[in-house]
Amino acid sequence: MYSLEASARGDLVPSPRRVTSADVWLTWRAAMEQALYGESGFYLRERPSGHFRTSVGASPVFAEAVLRELTAVDEALGRPAVLDLVDVGAGEGRLASGVLAAAPPGLRSRLRVTAVDLAPRPSRLPEEIVWARLVPDAIHGLVIANEWLDNVPVDVVEQTADGPRLVQVNLADGEERLGGRPTEEDLAWLGRWWPMRTAGERAEIGRPRDEAWAAVIARLARGRAIAIDYAHSRDDRPPYGTLAGYRDGATVAPVPDGSCDITAHVALDACADAGRRAGAATTALTTQREALRALGVTGRRPSVEHARDDPRGYLQALARASEEAELIAAEGFGGFGWLAQSRA
Ligand SMILES: C[S@@+](CC[C@H](N)C(=O)[O-])C[C@H]1O[C@@H](n2cnc3c(N)ncnc32)[C@H](O)[C@@H]1O
Repeated sequence: MYSLEASARGDLVPSPRRVTSADVWLTWRAAMEQALYGESGFYLRERPSGHFRTSVGASPVFAEAVLRELTAVDEALGRPAVLDLVDVGAGEGRLASGVLAAAPPGLRSRLRVTAVDLAPRPSRLPEEIVWARLVPDAIHGLVIANEWLDNVPVDVVEQTADGPRLVQVNLADGEERLGGRPTEEDLAWLGRWWPMRTAGERAEIGRPRDEAWAAVIARLARGRAIAIDYAHSRDDRPPYGTLAGYRDGATVAPVPDGSCDITAHVALDACADAGRRAGAATTALTTQREALRALGVTGRRPSVEHARDDPRGYLQALARASEEAELIAAEGFGGFGWLAQSRA
């Protein structure tokens, strides 16, 4: 942004604005949008794996489990000539690459893999993977969105004696102040999905996530879409919200200056409802622990006899068991929500 000022020659020329980010207050949704995806925003600049771990980075076992899910979808669709795998919020494209690499030739030759992200295409991505900013239309196959929705910007509100008020944040230091009333649509969302009772309670308005998820379901022609994220449901919303920042592997204050990831847990039950309204025929909402166990990820350790017969194989099996255990640990990744919806 520029202000027009008279130059020494008397012309009107653009000069850098004097307003600094210390003067700028935005609602959290607008601030997150700018800090994460604006010009030189965090996700356009940084590699997510440099700042935090996801299930994808924790172990290749995760991609293998997604491949099993994809195989089940393939069978349900009658092994079509072209089967889609769409990874939304693909980050560095590691999940898409991992599934592609592990797919058997008969499946791989029919796979059309699309990685969707606002970040630029990572280098060294297999060239079969299409990199896109938008979710494609008419998907036949599997959509997977691991830790995408928690990065879709949301507004934060605080309950006052006069009802909910939007929280505004200073872009430079993360200081907060109260702004105006939320829109009628947001108030309706809060009333249905995150009612606040006591002054001082805070909520994150998940409506933009519902809309983002509904847009995915609307683009699913046949198959399944799965959103995996830190989640809460109407019965257990945290009274002060979950807004958090991450940088260099540590939790930091969520300052929207582009220096850190900013995230908030997802009201996956509300997304499920939006998905149903967008055309989902079936819905399953469970935990990653249960979903991965159903896909054969057990964390079971190899037997001691295995150690005697094949010491090297035993050590590999032991390492795999510990990776599996991390992916299904109830206090960690295993506690994530899995929302799976399908269209016939
Ligand atoms: C936490 S990272 C997850 C990366 C990867 N799925 C994983 O599990 O390691 C979230 C990603 O979602 C992307 N993202 C957020 N909003 C998006 C949108 N509207 N469209 C496409 N990608 C988006 C971000 O750029 C970021 O790369």
